[in-house]
Amino acid sequence: MNPHVLGTFRSQAEACRSLGSPFTATLCDLFAERLTDSSRFGARILNWPDSAKDDAIALRAAGALHALVRSGRARELAALYPPLEAKPDQLWAAIEAAIEKHDDFLHDFLDSPPQTNEVSRSSALLGLTLRLTERFGKPLALHEIGASAGLNLAFDSYHYRLGDDLEWGDPKALVDIESLWRGNLPPLDAELVIASRAGCDRNPLDPHNPDSVERQLAYIWADQHQRIGRVSAALSAATTRPYVVEKADAAEWVETRLAEEPEPGITRVFFHTIVWQYLSREKQERITAAFAEAGAKATDETPLVWMYMEAEGHPGGAVLKQTVWPGGEKETAGLSDYHGRWVDWA
Ligand SMILES: C[S@@+](CC[C@H](N)C(=O)[O-])C[C@H]1O[C@@H](n2cnc3c(N)ncnc32)[C@H](O)[C@@H]1O
Repeated sequence: MNPHVLGTFRSQAEACRSLGSPFTATLCDLFAERLTDSSRFGARILNWPDSAKDDAIALRAAGALHALVRSGRARELAALYPPLEAKPDQLWAAIEAAIEKHDDFLHDFLDSPPQTNEVSRSSALLGLTLRLTERFGKPLALHEIGASAGLNLAFDSYHYRLGDDLEWGDPKALVDIESLWRGNLPPLDAELVIASRAGCDRNPLDPHNPDSVERQLAYIWADQHQRIGRVSAALSAATTRPYVVEKADAAEWVETRLAEEPEPGITRVFFHTIVWQYLSREKQERITAAFAEAGAKATDETPLVWMYMEAEGHPGGAVLKQTVWPGGEKETAGLSDYHGRWVDWA
């Protein structure tokens, strides 16, 4: 195996263990230890170029097997998938047999980069926007950069269980998010009003398209049933939403949107969750410059907020930060689990 490929499977196994997917961790370890080039699928993975990590080859491979299992065409392998806790030898024997029988399907599934939309990140967005509502007392015009299927643009339509008997939203909502809030909690009674919603993505995922929906679900780790259930429910709810995610590049879209005349009495909120790392330095600089320029013109009647949940190299999770204009001060709002399982509010 190309050492880069091996390293990618090993580090993905570690990440899966820390993010609560022991099954996917085992899969990644098995791929690293036992995959051979006797199939098209195996040969393609083993000879993947040095971009294996950036191309998320381990997630492509795990997604390919999960897609096959979900399709109902690999019964013997499906029988060993979670919730069953199969022994590694038993699991690998079934994987080898599935690779032999479904080599072309698995090989072709590797073509596209994994793309998901993690709906539990909505928990962080809820807290951030409740604070903005309390601070400005104005309706919010939401703009999401890298919105994927747009599931988090509807964060206010979900129900949240936030620990210690805290909850928010309609308990009958189709989507139920469990996320432990700790620290300096946002004001759950602030009256959130959303004036408008808009989003962009270079590759928007269409919740109306069954193939796209199935692919998104296949990338979710097979032992994370609650995550699969939540995203399925959010995708299904999204088919009736009144907005679409525009197909656009982040930098161009932000520049265009910020050049529009702001409506007095509305807080413009631009946000992104786990997107910044995918943007080139040039695009990051263009976006930063566009905010500085528009922020300089913001007034108390037309506040502008740029907020995000991003890795920023923090070992404990994704940082929540925001810049608020007028003023333009950068503020740290908290730290969140990558999949929204908890948020520590600053
Ligand atoms: C890891 S996903 C996160 C999706 C979503 N924000 C979430 O938290 O579930 C990164 C997203 O950024 C989008 N993206 C990457 N580069 C982009 C660009 N230059 N312009 C617009 N979207 C981009 C990808 O298509 C993908 O949907």
